[in-house]
Amino acid sequence: MSRVPRSTELYERAKSLIPGGTQLVSRRPSRFAEGTSPVYAVRGKGARIWDVDGNEYIDWASGIAAIILGYCDPVVDDAVREQIGRGVNFSISSELEVELAEELTRTIPCAEMVRYTKCGGEACTVAVRIARGVTGRDKVLFCGYHGWHDWYLAANLDAGGSLDAHLLPGIEPIGVPRGLAGTSIPFPYGDLAALGEALDRNRGEVACVIMEPLRSQLPPEGYLAGVQKLCREHGAVLIFDEVSAGFRFGMECAQGFVSVVPDMAVLAKSVSNGYPMGLVVGRRDVMAPAARMFISSTYWSDAIGLIATLTTIRELRRRRTAEYVAEFGARLQTRLNQTAAEVGIDVHCGGLAVHPHLHLPGKDATERKLLTTLYIQEMAKRGCHGYASFYLNGAQGDAELEQTATAARETFALMRRGLDEGSLTSLVESKLQDEPFQRLVR
Ligand SMILES: Cc1ncc(COP(=O)(O)O)c(C=O)c1O
Repeated sequence: MSRVPRSTELYERAKSLIPGGTQLVSRRPSRFAEGTSPVYAVRGKGARIWDVDGNEYIDWASGIAAIILGYCDPVVDDAVREQIGRGVNFSISSELEVELAEELTRTIPCAEMVRYTKCGGEACTVAVRIARGVTGRDKVLFCGYHGWHDWYLAANLDAGGSLDAHLLPGIEPIGVPRGLAGTSIPFPYGDLAALGEALDRNRGEVACVIMEPLRSQLPPEGYLAGVQKLCREHGAVLIFDEVSAGFRFGMECAQGFVSVVPDMAVLAKSVSNGYPMGLVVGRRDVMAPAARMFISSTYWSDAIGLIATLTTIRELRRRRTAEYVAEFGARLQTRLNQTAAEVGIDVHCGGLAVHPHLHLPGKDATERKLLTTLYIQEMAKRGCHGYASFYLNGAQGDAELEQTATAARETFALMRRGLDEGSLTSLVESKLQDEPFQRLVR
């Protein structure tokens, strides 16, 4: 008997109406334990969500990183409700645009001027446009995931061996103009020589280097400062994509955490507690020429995103959320590692405390896939939704830690049994989990 019949039925209907089934690849059921994991939510509160079948879960994916304070945060939502009462999109601008710009330029090290968007990939696209405009150059070197837009997927037009280490290997760039071939070039994280060679090969043509400065591992010592130096030598704009990182790393964002101030940065998922908002921030000399570029959208002035962002940033500061989350993440790692040791399975919860990752055993890719699916499936049955990694938020606390440790004890024991008895295949009741992303930055 399925525990998610309504989710399953809705998804069947969705597939005939919505190409791809979901709007975001990371929300596809295939990324979880399809058949066991929930697909459709009806509400969320604090650290938890409820699905259309009436099941309650701790949401360890935190709205795919869009939630940082917790679902339905009362302070942010009250501010949004008040704004709705005043109106949300006028034929003239909202003064919140200026107030937020002042808040951001006081807070984020590289921010002297700002532009707004509604989501992360769009913010990356605006940043790349500005960098191309300000340098008069076309090529982009990138390292990370930066959304779905043509400038980025153009990298896949030159498919072949060079894409083996690429984020989206095998993804066909269908619909991306062939004329963009050669304009977007990936480089490997942590390898300064490789970046230097790519800049040399494309000397005088690179508009910007856009990269995730880090995800769940510390960068190699001196690496990001080295990237900055190379960019300066080659006249390329350095853009940090902090869409997922941002305020998770503190009030000065990831750039403050790694002590390297880029020329520009883009943020989204850590800034507005789930309300649509993207930020492009940067040094005045890089940003100011954007006044002459055509970069314009009706919804970028929407007052809901603006008030949600202002309120979220002020609450993150007041509650010291980044410190709390780092301390909580370290406790989660310790508990899960203790649990794995007690069960006697070679599972390790590592990575930076702000974004813990489970490393599962398995003698080959097939066994690891079975174990990952079994982990997601059994945790879901015990009210813990997520991947084999954890996006943290400020609403998670002792109750979530205890429930997760108990669920993990039972799940790890089952995984161990499957490994010992060679019965993993029969324990997996769901479709095998599919991981479309190969992260350039771990
Ligand atoms: C680093 C990074 N850049 C860009 C994006 C794209 O953001 P969005 O999905 O809001 O367009 C994401 C989304 O996960 C991201 O993690």
